[in-house]
Amino acid sequence: MLLMFFATWVLKKTLKQEHVAFSRRRLFTLGEDRMGMASKETIDLRSDTVTLPTEEMLEAIRHAELGDDVYGEDPTVKKLEEMAAEKIGKEAALLVTSGTQANLVSLMNNAKRGDLVFLEAESHIYWYEGGGVSAIAGLLPWLVKGHWGAIKPEDIEAAIRPKNIHFPEPSLICIENTHNRYGGTIVTPTQMRAISEVAKKHGLKFYLDGARIFNAAVALKTNVREFTKHVDNLMFCLSKSLSCPVGSVVVGDQQFIEKARKTRKVLGGGMRQAGIIAATGIVALEKMIDRLEEDHRNGRRLAEGIAKIKGVKVDLEAVQTNMVRFDMSALGVSDQLFVQKLRERGVLVSVMDKNSIRMVTHRGIEKIHIEKAINAIGSVAEEAHSKTKA
Ligand SMILES: Cc1ncc(COP(=O)(O)O)c(C=O)c1O
Repeated sequence: MLLMFFATWVLKKTLKQEHVAFSRRRLFTLGEDRMGMASKETIDLRSDTVTLPTEEMLEAIRHAELGDDVYGEDPTVKKLEEMAAEKIGKEAALLVTSGTQANLVSLMNNAKRGDLVFLEAESHIYWYEGGGVSAIAGLLPWLVKGHWGAIKPEDIEAAIRPKNIHFPEPSLICIENTHNRYGGTIVTPTQMRAISEVAKKHGLKFYLDGARIFNAAVALKTNVREFTKHVDNLMFCLSKSLSCPVGSVVVGDQQFIEKARKTRKVLGGGMRQAGIIAATGIVALEKMIDRLEEDHRNGRRLAEGIAKIKGVKVDLEAVQTNMVRFDMSALGVSDQLFVQKLRERGVLVSVMDKNSIRMVTHRGIEKIHIEKAINAIGSVAEEAHSKTKA
């Protein structure tokens, strides 16, 4: 009896250790796979959100000093927030769970329910955030079409109506930089300044969805503050091209961030030992920004490569950072079939609109993967041409 009890105890302990070892291995293997894609694996160009944490990030998690951040007691979160505020050139910052939550918190804090918010017509806030701008923030989106994301100041001026009992109160202008739906295009600091002048003239707040603002800064070889100085507040994402597993940061003045902290809590975003997330963000701010240049180089390589393929149309001027969008309508196959054929060849991409495909370069995607992706697209195009001829 005693022997059986002992044997069961040993078995349970071994299984438990095996399980822990397996989970760890899996985490690391995934990390290694991502970096060592060159040989066998899938080339995932759907988004830069698929990046896995670096070894250094995983180590930073393991050694992070932790506390309860809802009590304001997590030293690692505090460090990240101070670093982010400093880098962006504002007074304070707040770690939040996602880009969507960052935008929502900021919308709610920059405007009151029933107000009107000017959004660029192709903005992420309008297209991809579940309508939170209206459903939760209670704002009325007023769309202004921009060129590659840059709204012309005169178009906002024209959209602002005089004070009148019939009209909703405008209170906020939001822009996005780099611009996702236009394929990673940059709104230049000069363009941002022009928009900020309209905002000031009409007493409106100016907010930046800067999910990939560091891509813009690196691409123009300029300090990120050249962009951020024109807005009242903004957010940037840690979990995209900066390679963190989770998180975004809202940045603004002290008062705005204090209010945002409360709003984040209301939205269920108060996190306890959030230092395990912040630890990766610190590594990202220290080590992951300069390397974005490599993603941009690969983006250009990819765009130039596919531009030579018959039936594929890519606007090379719009390829400014780590995204490439192309039109494949001339191939005579559906976008879904095109994506499936690429998947069969080990390349993952996403459909943005009908016949419009998006690819995003990121850490772990190297020159060799770009070449393979170009070959795969060429081969699918070839197959489509031969089918049309037959
Ligand atoms: C421009 C932009 N803003 C916001 C978000 C939302 O970020 P998240 O997916 O972390 O909610 C994204 C996500 O792709 C984005 O591209």
